[in-house]
Amino acid sequence: MKNLHSHKLCPAKDGLCPVRLLRIVGMNPLRFWKKALSMVPTGLATFAALAVCAESTNSTAVLQIKADQVTAHVSPILYGLMTEEINYAYDGGLYAELIRNRTFKESVTNVYIPHWTVVQTGNSNAAISLDTNQPVNDALTISLKLEIAKASRNQPAGIANDGFWGIPLKPQTTYHASFYAKAAKGFSGPVTVALVGNANGTIFASAKVRHLTDTWQKYEVTLTTDKVPASKDNHFAITAENSGTVWFSFVSLFPPTYKNRANGNRDDIMQLLADMKPSFLRFPGGNYLEGDTIETRFNWKNTLGDISKRPGHNNDAWHYWSSDGMGLLDFMHWCEDLNMQPVLAVYAGYSLRQQHINPGTDLEPYVQDALDEIEYLTGGTSTTWGARRAQDGHPVPFKLQYVEIGNEDQFDRSGTYGARFAQFYDAIKAKNPQLQLIATTRVTNREPDVVDEHYYRAAPHDMESHGNDYDSRPRKGPKVFVGEWATRIGSPTPNISGALGDAAWMVGMERNSDLVIMSCYAPLFVNVSDLTNADRVARSMQWPTDLIGYDALSSYGSPGYYAQKMFNLNHGDDVLAVTSSNVPMMDWQPPARRRNGVEQPAPPLQHIPTLFFNATRDSKTGIIFMKVVNTAAAPQTVQFEISGTSSIMTKGAGVLMRADKPDDTNSINDPTKVVPTPIELDGLGENFAREFPPYSITVFRVMAK
Ligand code: AHR
Repeated sequence: MKNLHSHKLCPAKDGLCPVRLLRIVGMNPLRFWKKALSMVPTGLATFAALAVCAESTNSTAVLQIKADQVTAHVSPILYGLMTEEINYAYDGGLYAELIRNRTFKESVTNVYIPHWTVVQTGNSNAAISLDTNQPVNDALTISLKLEIAKASRNQPAGIANDGFWGIPLKPQTTYHASFYAKAAKGFSGPVTVALVGNANGTIFASAKVRHLTDTWQKYEVTLTTDKVPASKDNHFAITAENSGTVWFSFVSLFPPTYKNRANGNRDDIMQLLADMKPSFLRFPGGNYLEGDTIETRFNWKNTLGDISKRPGHNNDAWHYWSSDGMGLLDFMHWCEDLNMQPVLAVYAGYSLRQQHINPGTDLEPYVQDALDEIEYLTGGTSTTWGARRAQDGHPVPFKLQYVEIGNEDQFDRSGTYGARFAQFYDAIKAKNPQLQLIATTRVTNREPDVVDEHYYRAAPHDMESHGNDYDSRPRKGPKVFVGEWATRIGSPTPNISGALGDAAWMVGMERNSDLVIMSCYAPLFVNVSDLTNADRVARSMQWPTDLIGYDALSSYGSPGYYAQKMFNLNHGDDVLAVTSSNVPMMDWQPPARRRNGVEQPAPPLQHIPTLFFNATRDSKTGIIFMKVVNTAAAPQTVQFEISGTSSIMTKGAGVLMRADKPDDTNSINDPTKVVPTPIELDGLGENFAREFPPYSITVFRVMAK
């Protein structure tokens, strides 16, 4: 990028830069100085004018778009999704199950059974406890024992579940409840299954199971609400009218799911994702893939088939129980439903507490596990694992192009990743030469097809300061997958400052997408129900800043979500050459870091642009997509000069997202405060000027031939 800014003219560049001070107090430096000039004696005004950084004075930024010079092609899979079980992303999130602790494994103490309580009404009298002596199968080893000493028709007793921060109910909606039960001699039911309001016990829907037996049976009922208020302040209950003992296991409640899939996903969150049109899904992590220990890794073989046969596991990487309702095949259904290709991350022998498997013989079972996993997804039904997939309900093999070996293996202090990668690489390529293999960090003994790079940047303007990084990256070697990235400004979800950093970063990735072929923001999801609980197990968020927020009832996209949607829906396939001049700059002081508890000297002051931009084109239609990000507190005008076209329509359209203040954001209670709005443009041609509002992201289309 050609940049005519000369910061040398600013006499205060290392300290109290007047431009920066004016911006901090929300004033436009240009307007301020014009006003000052008209008010103060000429000598003083001249001095004042000199004190202004050259970049912010007189000249308009000029962008020259050369439509006859294609510098790269936009990767068709540039924008995708990264997902793992963090922040109650699946359980209590996308996975639609409403009962929390449905198999009672969140705790094995007899004293406290998380999310389950005994129901005693009037004079009824009952107690609940966990019982490990009545297993249903190898996975359902714990049951909930209900002992009713006294109950009657008007004063029933039973069990209740409070869900993932509430049981959400909507009017005229049918819920599907199921549970396993076994009665002791002398008790045969009936039991009533109900959806109950917390406020005064109003029963919004109920159904009866008339007869229980003394062996484990699965019971299923549907519960349909009438004109209930949409609310999450409800609970689920199973009650009885007689005394006796009954055991329960795998108690489940599902609302209608996206595309009506059994064991499916929440409709509202899937719709938010569908609207982004993501091209791939990276799963199942992230730290969740690795686990804190080898034992608690994502063990895909335990996540297959009937959900009542999945043992679940301790997601110790993020401190809560995982039901594994979101199993390997469920990830693939998710991909199918949103037309995404899978980017499968296989466990590669390293877990977060520095446990690792030595390359060689020790690693062989894990390599075989990855080969089996690939076969499960892609093998014909005559293969062992392809047959298992067919048995699980999906005879048609899936398409798979990318497999990632591990996650963030630069943290493995044993230094074994190079050899581990090579062992996986050789075995996978030998059997599946068509697969593209992704390394999670630099390796030297094999050339990976792609390397996954992660960038989390938290300080204001940090991400912007890296916006042009890939412009100068050498093109030799593996392609780049930015498999986790985020401007971590805003909690639980990014505010407009975060979105501006994201947009500056995306502009750069898009411009360099011959090299950066894939990218996905992380984390994707956060349950916002309990953000501050001192108990990290009880908290619904383990990691701010997250793209999409929700509680039990509703969900919302952050400004960062909308920025991604704007970008992914408007990029075409050609990157056009753009030269620029007079791009305004600002000073940014990166914060000092601490190393081993000691504060390091402040890094050098940086001069970073306040405008980020690129031009791409749809080669079929000729439409040019212009993206302009104005990170400044003041409006900025850009002069566009388009060459290399034979005609340009004067009218165009696009979308604009802007905010008044840098911390403006969306939230569960104000979900659409900062969203893109359509814009119409006139006066387009080979030369035109346009003003971009403060704190704004603009994408507009120029119809050109
Ligand atoms: O996105 C949160 C975590 O950040 C991921 O689990 C891990 O890969 C990274 O360190």
